[in-house]
Amino acid sequence: MIEEVKKHLKKVNNFKTQDLSELESFRIEYSGKKGVLNNFFISFRNVPKEDKKQFGKELNLLKNAVSEKIKSFKGEINIVNEVGANGDLFRPGLVPDSGTRHPLSIVRNRIISIFSKIGFNLSDGPEIEDDWHNFTALNLPEHHPARDMQDTFFIQTNPDILLRTHTSSVQVRYMESNSPPIRILSPGRVFRNEAISSRSHCIFHQVEGLYINKDVSFVDLKQTLQYFTKALFGKSTIRLRPSYFPFTEPSAEVDIYWGLETETDRRITKGTGWLEIMGCGMVDPNVLINCGIDPEEYSGYAFGMGIERIAMLLYQVSDIRMFFENDLRFLKQFKPHT
Ligand code: DAH
Repeated sequence: MIEEVKKHLKKVNNFKTQDLSELESFRIEYSGKKGVLNNFFISFRNVPKEDKKQFGKELNLLKNAVSEKIKSFKGEINIVNEVGANGDLFRPGLVPDSGTRHPLSIVRNRIISIFSKIGFNLSDGPEIEDDWHNFTALNLPEHHPARDMQDTFFIQTNPDILLRTHTSSVQVRYMESNSPPIRILSPGRVFRNEAISSRSHCIFHQVEGLYINKDVSFVDLKQTLQYFTKALFGKSTIRLRPSYFPFTEPSAEVDIYWGLETETDRRITKGTGWLEIMGCGMVDPNVLINCGIDPEEYSGYAFGMGIERIAMLLYQVSDIRMFFENDLRFLKQFKPHT
């Protein structure tokens, strides 16, 4: 009988498994109700008195060996299951799915980096503005018809407070508290009360540029714009079309020559080859005076563009609403430009 217990002890010590169900059969074979251990305990009665001590000792050894085996293999199998079927603890971990930058952020960052190379610093201002900074200081006094160019969201209880309609408000704030030379770029969110369609949205983004110094001329403006369009679009043929903005005089709209080579070129330029990308001009002396800068001493240029419009041209996106719908299938296509 003792010999038999010893035989089982050897068998238990040699037992190995990687498999939970095999371990479970092992457990039932030894520790189950009708298992080996119980059978030995039952037969303990029949063991001759003089062997009882030795038999008990061997039986305890077997019992401990069985529970040790079950415990250690259970731990190991769980680790193996967590790590992977082949149990390779050095296998690389699962890489979490990382997000991508929003196309508007990519374009904004590119514009910032292009202008920062020629000395433009970033500046920002509040999205909830007052009438002075958004309109009056920019040469748009009350009842000026040009206010209708930008349908405005006013705060109902205080018509002096509004959601800024353009980032030009930032140039006023900056000129009020800094003296020339000034060279700033202000990207930001703007708001207009417009019907949402494939070409317009109530919330969109602009970048405004402002340069004030002695003897700044229209030539400086044109050079800067050519540098910019070459860097962003790879095209430096531009034309400045006379236009009107209350805060600049003279004012112009900037078109770049896009080309007429492909069907798409023809479609997006409506058969002309030219595309409008922004507004610009020489800062109106009235604006300088309103902001405490002497127009006899200083002059400057300003320009403003819509980030959505630029992104639509760069990525050939035909509907502005795509930028606001957070559809991952759309957003995942954009990679930062290096
Ligand atoms: N603020 C203009 C708009 O929202 C854009 C603009 C045009 C800004 C000409 C300027 C500028 O600084 O000179 O339509």
